[in-house]
Amino acid sequence: MALSITRRYRALLASALLMLGVASCEDKTPPPSEPAVTPTTPYNLQLPSQLPQSVVLPTNNPLTVEGVDLGRKLFYEVKLSSNNTMSCGSCHQQSKAFTDGRAKAIGVDGIAHKRNAMSLVNLLWEPNLNWDGAATGLETQARVPIENPVEMHQRLTSGVAKLQQTALYPPLFAAAFGSSTITEENVLKALAQFERTLISSNSRYEQSLLPTGPKLTQDELKGKVLFFNHPGEAGNTSARGGSCDHCHNGNTFLFTSTSFTTPGGNTQYFNNGLALSSDLGRFGVTGVASDRGKFRVPSLRNIALTAPYMHDGRFQTLEEVVDHYNEHVDANTADPILLVSNPQINGSLGALGLTATEKRQLVAFLRTLTDSTFIKDPRFSNPF
Ligand code: HEC
Ligand code: HEC
Repeated sequence: MALSITRRYRALLASALLMLGVASCEDKTPPPSEPAVTPTTPYNLQLPSQLPQSVVLPTNNPLTVEGVDLGRKLFYEVKLSSNNTMSCGSCHQQSKAFTDGRAKAIGVDGIAHKRNAMSLVNLLWEPNLNWDGAATGLETQARVPIENPVEMHQRLTSGVAKLQQTALYPPLFAAAFGSSTITEENVLKALAQFERTLISSNSRYEQSLLPTGPKLTQDELKGKVLFFNHPGEAGNTSARGGSCDHCHNGNTFLFTSTSFTTPGGNTQYFNNGLALSSDLGRFGVTGVASDRGKFRVPSLRNIALTAPYMHDGRFQTLEEVVDHYNEHVDANTADPILLVSNPQINGSLGALGLTATEKRQLVAFLRTLTDSTFIKDPRFSNPF
């Protein structure tokens, strides 16, 4: 009895689907070139508990095991460059926390980019990308380096055609996106999925906060206080420090200026008092006069591994960076938080007045932000 109802129901359903012009699953014989579509496996994304929990993933590109695996291969795929020599991984090397060790990146044709290759870390929390926040989302960002003449210098359509001719990629795209016909959109989606998994949360600083974790040295601990102290702030006028945490927010453990008062986060831009160059940063995106010389605040995670520093790689060492903040901030353009006017701390506006010992301690603290498991994690390495 139950069986016949089921049969009748199935027959009705099948004819209804036929009327709608949809073939039922049983009737569909896949074309010989197209392997049967197997369901994707959701990727088990684990958000470290100390990092903000309000991340927003695009609903049209959920993370899957197959998508992330494909994205990793594409990240290291030289066929996405014009002369098959350069991949994303050429400028974003895992051992250097996904930077390239150069002041300014150099593309396939040997031409220098105007900017320093950024570290790729905890991108899941960044709604705006690049030094000026011009790219809004990893999917759109990924097209830029592929097509940019001073980076990989190849139209994405040409890259897609090259991938389609390989034996490797069509089945991987079928597994990740349900079709072995490769599209530009799916290349960008897979790259973005892989990039969202680049999570770093195991620096020695973080370990030291755990009850059983390693202890920081006296110098590192003093450097930590200098990092978090805001000497210019009301009620804190005699404190010594660099107000670093004001922009490189340590409470989010991201060490950026992205705020999480709304889901997905808001990017903030600052002028950190560098001598102005022709690259006006955020101003180039908005055209708003007050944005001249403002940049996104880069994360300080793994900062000991990502020299040279700043958007144009102008500083070679962390010591030079701290010298800048301590002695060379341009008082006319810098954010006021960097200008300490309290005569108890120092005599002149625009200088933090840290001693040589304090500067050394601040650098020692910055070095505790290195996550040595992140740079060796086999899930992020070159699969070829
Ligand atoms: C020639 C070197 C080079 C190559 C190759 C390269 N990048 Fe980059 N990357 C850069 C530079 C330089 C920047 C900073 C760009 C800017 O601010 O305008 C950057 C920035 C980024 C950012 C922004 C990170 C952030 O925190 O805002 C992402 C994401 C990124 N690249 C991903 C990729 C991907 C994916 C590929 C491969 C498709 C790739 N890059 C290839 C040099 C490179
Ligand atoms: C007013 C906000 C602000 C404050 C305060 C601040 N920074 Fe920055 N920091 C920035 C911005 C913006 C950049 C990027 C500037 C650029 O490249 O033009 C930056 C860049 C850096 C970089 C280079 C990062 C890289 O990837 O190249 C380091 C290192 C750094 N800051 C350390 C510090 C330290 C240490 C302090 C405290 C003494 C500090 N910052 C205080 C805004 C700030």
